[in-house]
Amino acid sequence: ASLKAYNTFGIDIKAKTLISVKSLDELITVLKNNYAKDLFILGGGSNMLLTKNIEETVVHIDIKGIEVVEETEEFVFVKSNAGENWHEFVLHTLDNNWGGLENLSLIPGNVGTSPIQNIGAYGVELKDHFVSCNAINIQTLEIVNFTAEDCEFDYRNSVFKNKLKGKYIIISVIFRLTKVNHKLLTNYGSINEAIIEMGIAKPEIRDISNAVIQIRQQKLPNPKELGNSGSFFKNPVIKTTEFDILKKQFPDIPNYQVGEDSIKIPAGWLIDQAGLKGYREGDAGVHKNQALVLVNYGRATGEEILELSRKVQKEILSKFKIHLEPEVNII
Ligand code: EPU
Repeated sequence: ASLKAYNTFGIDIKAKTLISVKSLDELITVLKNNYAKDLFILGGGSNMLLTKNIEETVVHIDIKGIEVVEETEEFVFVKSNAGENWHEFVLHTLDNNWGGLENLSLIPGNVGTSPIQNIGAYGVELKDHFVSCNAINIQTLEIVNFTAEDCEFDYRNSVFKNKLKGKYIIISVIFRLTKVNHKLLTNYGSINEAIIEMGIAKPEIRDISNAVIQIRQQKLPNPKELGNSGSFFKNPVIKTTEFDILKKQFPDIPNYQVGEDSIKIPAGWLIDQAGLKGYREGDAGVHKNQALVLVNYGRATGEEILELSRKVQKEILSKFKIHLEPEVNII
């Protein structure tokens, strides 16, 4: 089977066997039948670059369902199964006037993979509203509940990318959202400007979502039209001492303090400054509106995108002495 429709980069890679599971029971059956065999677990396919055919059995997690598990006057605890599309889930929370996820509108991918890299945008991270997730141990089939602490969340990182990599499949996630007194975060980036432009004096959570959607649509290519996996690289974090040297050479360098002696630099700015924005080799390119996003103009192979990413890394290393680390999983 071709995986082209299953990865947002639109890479045409073949899988020997592809199984879609619609329920936990189906998943357990597949895990039992494939005991001791290597499996390739696929969620929304929005954070991977496929560079070679997949020999393992591909298990596509397509378990749907959203339910309220607990409610107080102030909060609602909502559980979503792993196969729900992230943005559709966010829209569902907004339809119910539940606050918290509005800044995370329009992020590609599924709910089940959202904790793996602690998705984040416009000043909010998944971990800010995450309560726990259930995950099944691929070997023992034991279902384990992971609290936020267990998940060891960090910037685009969690335990599922590190010591538990490949060991568990997340089957559902519980979020704690506000029913009243929503905390609106509008200071990040151009959200405030977008809201003013929309002519809104007192924004509601739905307005924030609409503003985020508008901003994302201006900068980030729609994977349905142009294959991509969002930010290809993480924003690098460097020492303040290194930053001071760079600042002399590049006085306009944007930067955010993180911790005491570290500074985060937007990788998009670095790539842009290196003159690579809009650069294209065959069907592999650096997006013209957001240099942090690599795109597939149609027929690029995973290898070609990977090669382009290496060229970007090389140029950034030679110009700024900064190593860019991919955010996307390279397979
Ligand atoms: N910039 C440029 N040129 C570019 C792109 C960016 O100069 O081509 C500059 C911008 O002017 C701005 C700075 O870089 O000063 C930061 O850009 P932006 O606010 O667009 O955010 P980002 O750092 O590029 C991060 C996340 C995004 C998230 C946005 C908004 C990472 C790796 N990326 O991008 O997440 O949507 O902030 O919060 O942290 C993703 O993970 O796939 C993703 C899209």
